[in-house]
Amino acid sequence: MTLRRTLFILLVALGVGACGGQASPPQQSLATETLASPTASPTEMPPTPAPPLYTQPDADIDARVDDLLSRMTLAEKIGQMTLIEKNSISPDEVRELAIGGVLSGGGGYPKDENSPEAWARMVEAYQQAALETRLGIPILYGVDAVHGHNNVYGATIFPHNVGLGAANDAELVARIGRATAVEMAATGIYWNYAPGVMVPQDIRWGRTYEGYAERPEHVAALASAFVRGLQSPDIAPPNLVMSTPKHYLGDGGTAWGTGDSGYQIDQGDTQVDEATMRALHLPPYQAAIEAGAKVIMASYSSWNGEKLHASLYWLTDVLKGELGFDGFVVSDWGAIDQISPDYYEAVVTAINAGIDMNMVPYDARRFITTLTQAVEAGDVPEARIDDAVRRILRVKFHMGLFEHPMAHAELLSEVGSAAHHALAREAAAKSAVLLKNEGNVLPLSKDVGHLFVGGLAADNMGIQAGGWTIEWQGKTGDIIPGTTILEGIQAAVSPQTVVEYNKFGNFQGDPSADDAVCIAVVGESPYAEGRGDSADLRLPTKEIRTLNRMEEACARLVVVLVSGRPLIVTDHIDAWDAFVAAWLPGSEGAGVADVLFGERPFVGRLPYTWPRSVEQVPLGRSDEPPLFPYGFGLTTEGE
Ligand code: GLC
Repeated sequence: MTLRRTLFILLVALGVGACGGQASPPQQSLATETLASPTASPTEMPPTPAPPLYTQPDADIDARVDDLLSRMTLAEKIGQMTLIEKNSISPDEVRELAIGGVLSGGGGYPKDENSPEAWARMVEAYQQAALETRLGIPILYGVDAVHGHNNVYGATIFPHNVGLGAANDAELVARIGRATAVEMAATGIYWNYAPGVMVPQDIRWGRTYEGYAERPEHVAALASAFVRGLQSPDIAPPNLVMSTPKHYLGDGGTAWGTGDSGYQIDQGDTQVDEATMRALHLPPYQAAIEAGAKVIMASYSSWNGEKLHASLYWLTDVLKGELGFDGFVVSDWGAIDQISPDYYEAVVTAINAGIDMNMVPYDARRFITTLTQAVEAGDVPEARIDDAVRRILRVKFHMGLFEHPMAHAELLSEVGSAAHHALAREAAAKSAVLLKNEGNVLPLSKDVGHLFVGGLAADNMGIQAGGWTIEWQGKTGDIIPGTTILEGIQAAVSPQTVVEYNKFGNFQGDPSADDAVCIAVVGESPYAEGRGDSADLRLPTKEIRTLNRMEEACARLVVVLVSGRPLIVTDHIDAWDAFVAAWLPGSEGAGVADVLFGERPFVGRLPYTWPRSVEQVPLGRSDEPPLFPYGFGLTTEGE
């Protein structure tokens, strides 16, 4: 090799451009450098400019963050702090405003078609626009995949957290987290606004079912399992699907009658001392951060009158200071606006308190303009902006988003796969809690002569899936693929068994016959958030009428309750031979049939205290014993 050639390679290796003396980032490693013809002189070979440090996958993450931040304008920084819902922004605007995040709220499926492929196309359009910005920073696209990738038609819908709390099986929850991440990665979505790590103290709250349990250690164990499963490194290399424990802090401890947004208790005021706030509501966040969570969503609720979105103490001093949280805090949907009717004041207060990314979610320009004005006026220090953007960028690098921003199309075949449905069925079975079994009527024989099935929840995918399914509020009817509880029952019994179903319990046959058994599958209609706040915890009137009818007519009556929380059944339960809480089982109602017929044992235990009356709610209000205590659950004889 000529001396000149050797000299040139040496210069390149030292990262000194052939045409200039200033050091530049080291070129590609010599091993991969394209060796030019040995006869060419250095002047004939202008050096390829070194790629910016932040684009180099093997560079230290904090060095990448520093490099990228140093290149950003204020507008690009504030763009990164802006999270907009997809109907309120186009890909062109994402590019123009250098937006950092886009989300689908509940039911935010593509307008033209709700399929995994259509989702991937929709997300890809936004991501491509982001990659075409000056610095090519990919967006985070977020969804509430709180029980599977639940806005996507065809995705596997797992039991809501209340059922997983009853199953109390961390390994199962981790497997559900992983399956959820795979189905999300198939659509190019790597940000999940889950798990809910609330510790509900008042089951009148419409979000009780999003919580695992009433006790912090129970929630912490399952929340960290979900985070580990969702963020499993082997999910879709190099991507990592990021969790978002929510809603920080104390969302499950609000007082009835203090709700916001017109709700009774949702988004209300948590009126407890600091010691109680820390003891009850903080442990799940400590566990989730320990498990790898790098984004936390702030709560709409307040603590003794101060909105959490405005709390420097809880968002910055405790979470980022005391707990050392180095990820970023995202606001809830339009929650910043609740701080003050003066939008400028609301934005300044929230960002200074420690909100790093604002789920605006509609008017990007208004937020960007307002925050820009606040920085220029000195009301929000640029150091606070840099801290927020540093946190956001650190997470994006950590997730592998720069290296692989698009969908993993190879995983599309796993969306709604038989394996994931089998997992959903296992989870539905393990969630069921046996609360009464007079005369060991359960498990039922598969050779029973006549089965009379009643109740609206028996044959209704939407009811058994609950809220946050396809639509924000969920929807009754045949809204997702899977098996209803009735279909599970029909598949379980022998060909000789006669199964009669009538949703109101009006039967042709004789349900009092010796060889007859009745199963009433009754439940709540789907709801989400504050729309589910319930003053009386009563079953729907139609379901009560069906129960009355079947209690009268049936010789043997098994009741299965499909609900997001314990309901008041005290006046009815004496007329039942057996009682099962199935919660919100999701895609595979067959899992409930599995425990009714002994295919699987009953293993569920109550994650929430079951009150005799609504006067025993919230926890601690009454000294009288509840109908069933936290942790209660029977097994069937011989198990
Ligand atoms: C909602 C919920 C929150 C959800 C967010 C985005 O209002 O409070 O749990 O993640 O908006 O859908």
